Amino acid sequence: MERSIIIAPSVLSADFSDIRGALTDIEHSGTDWVHLDVMDGQFVPNITFGPKFIADIRPHSELYFDAHLMVDEPIRFIEHFDKAGCDNITVHVEACRNVQETLDKIKSFGVGCGLSIRPQTPVSALEPYLDQLDLVLVMSVNPGFGGQGLIPETLDKVKELAKIKGDRGYLIEIDGGVNSSTICDVFESGVDVAVTGSAFFGAKDKAEFVRRLSVGQGERR
Ligand code: DX5
Ligand code: ZN
Repeated sequence: MERSIIIAPSVLSADFSDIRGALTDIEHSGTDWVHLDVMDGQFVPNITFGPKFIADIRPHSELYFDAHLMVDEPIRFIEHFDKAGCDNITVHVEACRNVQETLDKIKSFGVGCGLSIRPQTPVSALEPYLDQLDLVLVMSVNPGFGGQGLIPETLDKVKELAKIKGDRGYLIEIDGGVNSSTICDVFESGVDVAVTGSAFFGAKDKAEFVRRLSVGQGERR
């Protein structure tokens, strides 16, 4: 069977004044995931939204809520994001004083547990935790803003994570600069989930966009 990956549109590139319309667009595109970029203005130089926003949209969508916390000391807020209805909570290894305690907290709520690295952080920073993770998130741009270009070297980290995976259960997710020009390389690197913000919301035919990206079809640059 043809391999296919999960496409996770990020609402970061949506019009927040019509967030329910954006969720409907995502649902109609045929994917099951939505990526929720939470930014605190400390870990990254931008601010987006918090648990209340997620709790408010939760009743309006059955999508898998994939929360990406770009927040310093996220352990302080895990409970709030669980209550808000996130299905998966991903934190940054660089943002936690105690990574293990933070992961334990996520797991205590029974939601999916993810750990992320910025482009400059090596895979070795994730290694002690790989056995316990449901998801590893490789940032392919510097976190903070949508619409940036994918940093090609980050795909080597995806390949490394795919290579050392063995019988571990984690999904490998990539985030930043995924579009029709980069999807071939992204797909070949061995990812399981690809986040797409600006390219998804800029696509006229979103169902066609998702269908093509999920099987790695794009235009090579
Ligand atoms: C960046 C965010 C990404 C972003 C991706 O810090 O984590 O999820 O929305 O957007 P694009 O696809 O436009 O690079
Ligand atoms: Zn993200």
